[in-house]
Amino acid sequence: NYYAVIMAGGIGSRFWPVSTADFPKQFHDMLGTGKSLLQQTFSRLSKLIPQEQILILTNERYLDLTLEQLPEITASQVVLEPAMRNTSPCIALAAMKIKKMNPDALMLVAPSDHWIEDEDAFMADVQACFDAAQRDDILMTLGIVPTFPNTGYGYIEAENLSASPIAPVKQFREKPDYDTAKTFVEAGNFMWNAGIFIWSVKSILKAFETHLPVMHALFSEGVPVYNTDTEKAFVETNYELAENISIDFGIMEKATNVFVKKATFDWNDLGTWGALHDKLTTSDSENAVVRAKPFFNDATGNMVFSETEKLIVVDGISDYIIVDKEDTLLLFPKSKEQDIKKLVQDIKARF
Ligand code: GDD
Ligand code: MG
Repeated sequence: NYYAVIMAGGIGSRFWPVSTADFPKQFHDMLGTGKSLLQQTFSRLSKLIPQEQILILTNERYLDLTLEQLPEITASQVVLEPAMRNTSPCIALAAMKIKKMNPDALMLVAPSDHWIEDEDAFMADVQACFDAAQRDDILMTLGIVPTFPNTGYGYIEAENLSASPIAPVKQFREKPDYDTAKTFVEAGNFMWNAGIFIWSVKSILKAFETHLPVMHALFSEGVPVYNTDTEKAFVETNYELAENISIDFGIMEKATNVFVKKATFDWNDLGTWGALHDKLTTSDSENAVVRAKPFFNDATGNMVFSETEKLIVVDGISDYIIVDKEDTLLLFPKSKEQDIKKLVQDIKARF
């Protein structure tokens, strides 16, 4: 009764110019491994969950890309969203679909754009969460030991983590401001939310009923198991009426039955160019390179990414993001990486 849903509908705009609305980062081979992040996520999950029980949640414009990259799946495994409404609505929709297939299902929700090193450790952690979610009416999260006050993550305050590998959560705080994040990291009993959730479909639907009742009611009618024409028509008219809210703000911050398992695997969110740099290097001052043939002189801490194996010469420039694409060249200070999201809007407005 194990099911998984992979969320693959984000745009990843902080990875511009590689990640774009037409071709978001989860469909790119960001690490230069020969596989896209989505393909890596799918193959990781299929070690624990039957392939035909893995659903992909994405915007309808990415259907072709999804089927092209995952030839193992059928179109009925792709849940298509006609509008961007963040992660709550698509998780509600997927939970309702899975419940119709198997009312006793356990469900794992995973982002499509993470890097996880030790797959055996990952599977052991997920198994422990499945076991816990099978036993009790709880919402399981995986916690990562924080290393700095990152304001792009959710924070999980664990109660008595040392007493048991799975601890109750006192508080879930999504994307706190810097000062709050700093006090959380210093407190010692907070972890980053890895963005991976495990629960029974019964528990998560109960949580939607309690915390997002309007959304729950909106989808309760009209969600059959397969992508029938009736369902498509239903989703087409109703999906955009759903509130635009992430699962973190919509459910996790409000629920009182959240638990956390401290992750035993290495994890990287790969949310920004700097995160990719950190993943590819062992020190801040090293240069990280994807695909390019680099030549560095008097240059440290740069993140160099190229679509081709082009020779890239960097002299006298440090801590820069250097991205070479056929139609765009980006040179941007790494310290300002969070601003790329806004930059993309400004650029769109000008060109
Ligand atoms: N299907 C679908 N539809 N997927 C979406 C949508 C949507 O509208 N919006 C985002 N996603 C996907 C993204 O592609 C990504 O795989 C995942 O959902 C999470 O969305 P992000 O936008 O990347 O969230 P975040 O990184 O800001 O925050 C989340 O992840 C952090 C860890 O990486 C939160 O769960 C945080 O609490 C967490 O710390
Ligand atoms: Mg993310």
